[in-house]
Amino acid sequence: MKVPREWHKSFFVNSFYNPAGARAVAKAPAEAAFVLKKLELKKGSSLLDLCCGPGRHAVEFARRGMGVTGFDFSAEYLREAAARAKKKKTALRLVRGDMRRLPFNGEFDAAVNLFTSFGYFPELSDDIKTLRGVARALKPGGLFLLDLANGAWIRNNFRPRSWQEWEDGGWLLEERLLTADGNFNEWLKVGPAGETSRRKFFTRIYDKARISAALRKAGLRPLRFWGGFDGVRMRPSSLRLICLARKPASAAR
Ligand SMILES: C[S@@+](CC[C@H](N)C(=O)[O-])C[C@H]1O[C@@H](n2cnc3c(N)ncnc32)[C@H](O)[C@@H]1O
Repeated sequence: MKVPREWHKSFFVNSFYNPAGARAVAKAPAEAAFVLKKLELKKGSSLLDLCCGPGRHAVEFARRGMGVTGFDFSAEYLREAAARAKKKKTALRLVRGDMRRLPFNGEFDAAVNLFTSFGYFPELSDDIKTLRGVARALKPGGLFLLDLANGAWIRNNFRPRSWQEWEDGGWLLEERLLTADGNFNEWLKVGPAGETSRRKFFTRIYDKARISAALRKAGLRPLRFWGGFDGVRMRPSSLRLICLARKPASAAR
């Protein structure tokens, strides 16, 4: 299956994929509360929401007293994040850019990347570049929480094809091809009125060992893992792989 290299540029538009559907938005307050508990941040701490999308978590972090910077490539999602913040009577600093080229230097107490917003590029070196950018963006000792689909679960439950009903009353047909590196997908969406649209995408598959190696390569130290936002222990059967990592307090450590 041939996936366009820069597939993310046309995939993340509301007319095709909306990460802030009603179900996802309803989960955000509890997920944000879990994240802040694990990051142990004081009010007023600076937090980078990397690939914040329409800001469903970013506004929850801001409502809980964090100074939040949301970073994303999609101008449409960032506009939605700004509107969401206004509606919730809170403020976000929103920056548009590519995660491979993060423009921050030592300014954040913590960073997060939520809902498998990582592993999108054909070359592993681009994932490492992204993680190095996160390490650079953090203050010494700063924490990074990364939430991914668990690669072990994906491999053990692989299905080349599936149908599911979409929130808007339409349907989604997924075709998948699994390689040693990752998951090549094609989505065919059939809207409520029968209209169809199609996109291909790639996600590199990370299990505990692989993400730990990538984080270490980028100068981040993995500390803890959970298998979900309820704080369960991470197992191969867990749906999520939530990892907490730290930038060492000094280069010598
Ligand atoms: C699955 S969505 C998740 C959004 C958000 N974290 C959430 O949980 O609602 C992935 C996000 O990554 C963003 N993204 C994809 N490729 C990107 C890139 N190269 N640089 C920056 N953001 C990117 C998309 O625009 C989208 O908002």
